[in-house]
Amino acid sequence: MRKKTKFIHGGISRDPYTGAVSTPIYQVSTYKQDGVGNFKYEYSRTGNPTRESLEKLIADIENGSRGFAFGSGMAAITAVMHLFSAGDHIIATDDVYGGTFRVMTKVLNRFHLDVTFVDTSDLQAIKNAIKPNTKAIYIETPTNPLLKITDIKAVSQVVKEKELKLIVDNTFSTPYWQNPLDLGANIVLHSATKYLGGHSDVVAGLVVVNNDQLGEDLHFIQNSTGGVLGPQDSWLLIRGIKTLGVRMEEIEKNTLEVVQFLQHHPKVEKIYFPGLSDHFGHDIHRSQADGFGGMISFTVENQEKALSVLNKVKYFTLAESLGAVESLISIPSLMTHASIPRDRRLELGIEDGLIRISVGIEDIEDLLEDLENALKDE
Ligand SMILES: Cc1ncc(COP(=O)(O)O)c(C=O)c1O
Repeated sequence: MRKKTKFIHGGISRDPYTGAVSTPIYQVSTYKQDGVGNFKYEYSRTGNPTRESLEKLIADIENGSRGFAFGSGMAAITAVMHLFSAGDHIIATDDVYGGTFRVMTKVLNRFHLDVTFVDTSDLQAIKNAIKPNTKAIYIETPTNPLLKITDIKAVSQVVKEKELKLIVDNTFSTPYWQNPLDLGANIVLHSATKYLGGHSDVVAGLVVVNNDQLGEDLHFIQNSTGGVLGPQDSWLLIRGIKTLGVRMEEIEKNTLEVVQFLQHHPKVEKIYFPGLSDHFGHDIHRSQADGFGGMISFTVENQEKALSVLNKVKYFTLAESLGAVESLISIPSLMTHASIPRDRRLELGIEDGLIRISVGIEDIEDLLEDLENALKDE
């Protein structure tokens, strides 16, 4: 099956119990047993047919063997971190999503999981950070909001040599553009709240592995810690994934036009977008992904100007999150990255006048008119 076909026919595409073409919502907590221990499903934390259908689907589309659905991206990340033990060390991308940074430095540290943050686009920096107790490398590529690129294949080589695990947060690229397991990653995860759901109506997280033992270990953790996705939200995600391909193609088209517009706009200073040939890591991204995605960050003169743009836009909705059919806009210094001290934020390149947009699938003429009006001085 090719990708778009897989989004529709992958996993369990027809309900095995009724033949229903769309997986039904099995809104159930427990199941009748035909004698003690004789059952297909026992209890919905352990297994639910709607969630299972989604889990098989995400495993298929990420070219893995087993998938797991959680109540949020953060629940998925936390479950993956439970694969490790007190005293283990993990190396992570220095500008990971703020919530990931928070759980690693304010929650998991209390259980003595030690994380070092490095610029993972620099292979030598990763190698230098490896300690005898290092167990995994955790990366995002592209990152948020500067869209920095890490070479998945090169890092997977280091991981193999040192017998570590490579974990990739593939939220920004989605399985439509990038399949980290094919490039040597061991675990792929998603905030499915973003492109996979795609309609700003569900909060969810997904994990995929391609190794039986890891699959068993993660199922044990999922069932033990219990942060599972409910059947209604599982169904919404199955529905969202069916149109992932067409949405990503439309988003790509719109995004390239928005980038071109910004490149020629006198009020725009820097643009961060992996599709630009002078973007750091452009060639690496092209070698590991089939598309550039819908995220663009750009700078204007200062925070005041950025706020004025945010106040004037009509179709770009001022909101956290990304990856929806509707275009969204935000100011990282005051929103997603506000908790990072200003000096550290500037060190990372997240300037006060940085604006991040997530391009949706509205008519491109409306989006460009909207930005043109918002960038005007008066
Ligand atoms: C790259 C990335 N990973 C993980 C998360 C966390 O996902 P959730 O908000 O679904 O818990 C986010 C949320 O913005 C994200 O952008």
